[in-house]
Amino acid sequence: MSNSTKQDKISIEKFDPRHLPDDFYVDPYPYYRQLREDAPVHLCPDGSYFLSKHAELRKIYRDPKTFSSDKKALFKPLFGDTLLYEHHTTSLVFNDPPLHTHVRRAIGDALSQKTIVAMEAGLKELVDELLNKLEEKQQFDFVEDYASIIPIEVISNLLRVPQEDRDQLRRWAVAILGALEFDLPKDKLDLGNQCVKEFLDYLKDFVADRKNNLSDDDDDILSRLIRWDFDGFQLSEKQLFHQCIFLLNAGHDTTTNLIANGMQTLLAHPDQLEKLKQEPDLIKSAVEEFLRFESPVQLGNRMTTTDVEIAGVEIPANTNLNLGIGAANRDPDIYSDPETLDITRNPRDHHAFAGGIHLCAGLNVARLEAQIAIPAILKRFPDLRSLETPVYDRRARFRAILTMPVSVN
Ligand code: HEM
Repeated sequence: MSNSTKQDKISIEKFDPRHLPDDFYVDPYPYYRQLREDAPVHLCPDGSYFLSKHAELRKIYRDPKTFSSDKKALFKPLFGDTLLYEHHTTSLVFNDPPLHTHVRRAIGDALSQKTIVAMEAGLKELVDELLNKLEEKQQFDFVEDYASIIPIEVISNLLRVPQEDRDQLRRWAVAILGALEFDLPKDKLDLGNQCVKEFLDYLKDFVADRKNNLSDDDDDILSRLIRWDFDGFQLSEKQLFHQCIFLLNAGHDTTTNLIANGMQTLLAHPDQLEKLKQEPDLIKSAVEEFLRFESPVQLGNRMTTTDVEIAGVEIPANTNLNLGIGAANRDPDIYSDPETLDITRNPRDHHAFAGGIHLCAGLNVARLEAQIAIPAILKRFPDLRSLETPVYDRRARFRAILTMPVSVN
């Protein structure tokens, strides 16, 4: 997406995340800008608030007691008594301590810097093989044929999912995470539930096999979750399965979007693309800028546990807060010229990975994937160009490109 150019004032008085206009999905940033300016703590028609300033999000992420991640009250009316409800209310991300603390500690070192360094050579090899295939094609879809393949392989390697089982993961992830969108039609809810069922069926054998063959040397995420026993707390089978589903989903849809959004952003900003080609060492800073400028996760949620005041607005307990990550990451109080892509900016304090106790556990995995995938394709195909305008998914939570046809010459 190019820098937002719409200058017309949008009336956001009636801004409603449940009923968004079509152009929001293509370019949400003019709406975010108006929200920051006119109503940084905006009361939505359903009684929730939409927050769009960087400072407010930071305070909320740092205070998990006042701002809960538990989504049971929020999801019950949306999902009813279904598998989607069971999944989204059991995974660590939508829980407070103590379940959250146990899972987070159990994952612990499995995503540490040591693991990341060990991944690097294999990742470069995978990317090289993919590029060899694309060289034969000349024209391809950047999302389908490149960006989506790398994260599936990486997260599957981390959980040791057999090669032949990996194809189905993307369909499950998109349907299950997609069910978090506002006002979902019944067919999408049904698909989400069906995908949780298929995923659970798959995991029954997969986890049982791992349990039966567990060795003392195994230190991957799943082995650590299976073994977790602290002060008598062990994960039930249901809790274990839902952490696996979350990890497999969280680990790839978002990273696919980071790689695709990053590439699309560069193609739309030829000066920045040229700069990166000239100075490849800028890639780390560039990836942080992609995360800020086109945050793959655009929205988060927290529930107030007591009456609070946020930026002068009194908010009662049990109120749902929509945290505008994509909006906060373009806050002019924090970033100069925030609607401009600047790959030298290195904005490490963005909220793309949230913050506080729920700070993304896989952030360095995601960073590494993008830091390898983007330069590698630019090096192999220096004349890579768009063939058509990319199509964005109608998802407010995730900034996701559906199709992005490109040519290597
Ligand atoms: C660019 C890619 C990614 C983005 C933008 C992203 C973003 C996020 C965000 C915003 C959260 C916090 C949600 C909240 O509390 O409201 C989160 C949590 C999480 N992410 Fe990521 N993520 C990415 C990649 C990954 C990868 C590759 C993995 C695994 C290898 C991963 C694993 C997790 C886990 C386990 C949590 C839950 C943390 C907790 O609740 O303590 N993520 N991520």
